[in-house]
Amino acid sequence: MTSADILTPRLPSPLQEVTDDRFARHGVRLLLKRDDLIHPELIGNKWRKLVPNIEAAAGRPLVTFGGAYSNHLRATAAAGRLLGFPTVGVVRGDELAGRPLNPALARCAADGMRLHFVDRPTYRRKAEPDVLAGLLRAVAAEGAYVVPEGGSNAAAVRGCVALGAELRGRADVVAIACGTGGTLAGLAAGLGAGQRALGVPVLRGGFLAGEIRRLQEEAFGGRRGRWSLDERFHFGGYGRTAPELDAFAEDFEERHGVRVERLYVAKLLYGLVELAREGGLGRGVDVVAVLTA
Ligand SMILES: Cc1ncc(COP(=O)(O)O)c(C=O)c1O
Repeated sequence: MTSADILTPRLPSPLQEVTDDRFARHGVRLLLKRDDLIHPELIGNKWRKLVPNIEAAAGRPLVTFGGAYSNHLRATAAAGRLLGFPTVGVVRGDELAGRPLNPALARCAADGMRLHFVDRPTYRRKAEPDVLAGLLRAVAAEGAYVVPEGGSNAAAVRGCVALGAELRGRADVVAIACGTGGTLAGLAAGLGAGQRALGVPVLRGGFLAGEIRRLQEEAFGGRRGRWSLDERFHFGGYGRTAPELDAFAEDFEERHGVRVERLYVAKLLYGLVELAREGGLGRGVDVVAVLTA
């Protein structure tokens, strides 16, 4: 039995049309891809990215990385508890060691994740082979399976192909919020001819297109699918928000009865409303927004 069988995910996730005059008046039909309903604890792209890695780890301890509020660490710890494999979280910031855990890290610990705090300079160099080897030695997990920060590696990208495949023939444009770009890299590869993926980065920096090309190269050996990024809707960067964005998210929740996750999904939906208003989506198009949490 595979992890996917044991955890009984809701797949394919539902696709739900919503009536919203901010799109309808520009000739755009909006649909929500409810990846937030896949699994109560391995939500959205966490499911799609983590499960292939858990299968590759084959019961070995899984070591991964994140900040003090990382959703990825939370999901990894929950998967370890649900499926019974050991997890280690390397957490950015040695100043956190010995202090009471915040609620996110307390959940990780309660799920059995061993937490190892490292200083920021070391954390930045965690992918360098000698630094990584030192970290694994420090947590006595030399034979462990290592998943990078944010969970985006080739296995994760290949896991996200199914998201695109579920949407073949169902829309013209599929829009998704991006952090590391791994989910978009896989999604674009899974879409059918004539469809395109649109990424809305929540981080500033303009580095993401190169990163997505690198991830596709690693996962598939070259570029796949049609995709582009609109880098205008990060609101200053990761975790940054604005009263206007909060008000938008609350209003969207009231209009459509769905929870709008604030770090990623709110920026995606805000960007789509803005694009529709500018006429940037075109008329007569069906647009899917992926609710990744
Ligand atoms: C809710 C949510 N949406 C989107 C993303 C972006 O995913 P990626 O890092 O693959 O671009 C993340 C990050 O993992 C996330 O937590």
